Amino acid sequence: MEKLIVVDACMHEGSRTRKIMEPIVARLAKRYSVEKIVLEADSYPVVGKRILEERSSGYVPQEIVETAKKVADADRLVIAAPFWDMSYPSALKVFFENMSLFNITFANNGKEFTGLCKCKKVLYITTRGMDIKTGEALEQATPYIRALSRLWGLGELLVVAEENMDYSTPEQIELKIRDGIEKGLKIAENF
Ligand SMILES: Cc1cc2nc3c(=O)[nH]c(=O)nc-3n(C[C@H](O)[C@H](O)[C@H](O)COP(=O)(O)O)c2cc1C
Repeated sequence: MEKLIVVDACMHEGSRTRKIMEPIVARLAKRYSVEKIVLEADSYPVVGKRILEERSSGYVPQEIVETAKKVADADRLVIAAPFWDMSYPSALKVFFENMSLFNITFANNGKEFTGLCKCKKVLYITTRGMDIKTGEALEQATPYIRALSRLWGLGELLVVAEENMDYSTPEQIELKIRDGIEKGLKIAENF
């Protein structure tokens, strides 16, 4: 069975983004072996002076290397993250920084970088409080994930986004969640 990694950066119980992601992942679990990485605020250390020095001396903790290898070896990725501060939670960025390891997720031949990941498609699932659409200048999550997909060689990026969540009635929010699930299940047919 091919491998799917789910990066869950939903950050709290009752997350609407997670409510959209779960049935989609349940559907994908029929075709993929699924591993979930659930991020908390302090799951990974912020990359700074100490970690850079360790990396320069050739040391990266074994569990980080193992997780990065799993990411590099995954056939598909699902990233679920709410829209925070016009982007996504920093815990997700910290996760990306920890996984962005030379000769595991990407390489550099002295002239240009190449992605080393096996992944062919990424599904990014999000909900936004304001009425901001994917690809608008105010929406800075998708451009970043697309750029990282290039660095790591993750293939095609597909997006399921629901907007205006914080200015909708509970009934409208439920409809939006259902709409997100339907869009994701449609994508899952050919994912
Ligand atoms: C810390 C934080 C920052 C947020 N920043 C934004 C923002 O910049 N723009 C926006 O449209 N919504 C913002 N929101 C609203 C969320 O995107 C919205 O409520 C979303 O549906 C939350 O998803 P969740 O239920 O999965 O946590 C923010 C919410 C939180 C908690």
